[in-house]
Amino acid sequence: MLEVKHLAKSYQKDKPALTDINFKIDPGNFVAIIGPSGAGKTTILRSLNQLIKDDAGEILLDGEDIRSANKSELRKLRRQIGMIFQNYNLVERLTVLENVLHGRLGYKSTLAGVMGRYTEDEKREALDLLDKVGLSEFALQRCSELSGGQKQRVGIARALIQHPKVILCDEPIASLDLASSQVVMKMLKDLIQELNIICIANLHQIDLAKEHADQIIGIRHGKMVFNDVADKLDQAAITELYGTAVEEKEPA
Ligand SMILES: Nc1ncnc2c1ncn2[C@@H]1O[C@H](COP(=O)(O)OP(=O)(O)O)[C@@H](O)[C@H]1O
Ligand SMILES: [Mg+2]
Repeated sequence: MLEVKHLAKSYQKDKPALTDINFKIDPGNFVAIIGPSGAGKTTILRSLNQLIKDDAGEILLDGEDIRSANKSELRKLRRQIGMIFQNYNLVERLTVLENVLHGRLGYKSTLAGVMGRYTEDEKREALDLLDKVGLSEFALQRCSELSGGQKQRVGIARALIQHPKVILCDEPIASLDLASSQVVMKMLKDLIQELNIICIANLHQIDLAKEHADQIIGIRHGKMVFNDVADKLDQAAITELYGTAVEEKEPA
């Protein structure tokens, strides 16, 4: 279980980016964080994998406070937290299979990683995961040859081969068309359920959040103004979150 208690962060004095954020997520759940641009969504994800130092609060992953981890503990913790990026962060000139295997780098010495030394088991698992995301026949193609939706599915496989407890996605579908977005969201939801992983995705597409997420967290001006099952996000809640009519929400 992931539990966030009283999380707070200011980048600049007297300008809080996050104030008193509290939520709990059980394994297997897909949570969408929504809210206007600048609300603090990315800051939450960066705090969860400790890319930034938050100011106060607790972040408990299976009871262990990741905020108090030292350097070597942090390396271990980061293996448990997979990342999926808006712009995929793939090495375009390498093959799909090699990119998936990069998800194992957190488990290897720098040298073994640089030399591209992967075990037969790792390679077999990478191929199995590519099968799960429907990309088996692309394993030996360069990533540069793939569409955006396919690249993001490689990103999903790369995150999963890490055997994470949590996957964090910052705007995972913001660069995709609607059809590819639907495929990626459904795939993520099904896989995290099957593998009993927590997934947190920052999204600006409210409809897709409502359709696919189990739980929705709404952030406005660094404060949590909504935290409930997706069905409960009605028009009134959306208006409260975005401050005005939903048509005026952040553009895609
Ligand atoms: N590195 C930074 N330095 C200073 N201010 C920042 C930095 N990153 C984000 N902010 C500010 O923190 C607030 C929240 O930003 P962010 O978490 O990126 O919002 P969102 O992802 O919801 O668009 C914004 O006011 C933003 O300008
Ligand atoms: Mg952001």
